[in-house]
Amino acid sequence: MINIAIDGPAGAGKSSVAKAVAKRLGFIYVDTGALYRAIGVNALKHNIKTDDHDGVTGLLPETKLELKYIDGVQKVFLNGEDVSETIRLPEASMAASNVSAMPEVRAFLLDLQRDMAKSNNVIMDGRDIGTVILPDAQYKFFLTASPEVRADRRFRELKEKGIDVNYDDLLQEIIQRDYNDSHRENAPLKQADDALLIDSSNMDLEQSIEAIISKINL
Ligand code: DC
Repeated sequence: MINIAIDGPAGAGKSSVAKAVAKRLGFIYVDTGALYRAIGVNALKHNIKTDDHDGVTGLLPETKLELKYIDGVQKVFLNGEDVSETIRLPEASMAASNVSAMPEVRAFLLDLQRDMAKSNNVIMDGRDIGTVILPDAQYKFFLTASPEVRADRRFRELKEKGIDVNYDDLLQEIIQRDYNDSHRENAPLKQADDALLIDSSNMDLEQSIEAIISKINL
């Protein structure tokens, strides 16, 4: 199987780029952030604070997560319920970042991610795909952009969906999330030694897609 890993901070455009690349190559796009989001949402549903280690990990034994592909679109099922929309709500972002720092949560999600890559040609995006989940991926990219550009992109994206947010709040959240994600002890956000760095601050979506596609020889 061919595995392509795309890591990078929140809002760098990983999911839009990976989706487009997957479509062109006929690969499955695996959005691993969705899994951490679902774990975060599960805690919120149970009124458990997402930085409460024992509370969050205590839910894991009764948690069933599944990824399904409906018309090529990834859907996340949490204990049988489709939570694909709920996990996109703004409060799910920080919830995901909090629970993702817990080693038990990362271990819980490891096999699900590796199994997808074992049985499919995948392009998988996240924070630790090239470093931890798929260290042997044939292609690895680290996609980033300045915090301001990323906050601006998120702002537009949410606005388009009719979700009302404040740009400065988004920027602060992105800076906080970058810090959380790259300073945690377990599988922090970092560029794999053998990943290609792409800074998309001055690129549009098409240029970012091209920057990746042009490096892939199948
Ligand atoms: O990619 P995203 O914004 O949907 O991810 C939400 C959070 O999940 C992110 O802040 C950190 C965490 N995450 C992670 O730790 N490892 C991954 N492979 C993907 C996401």
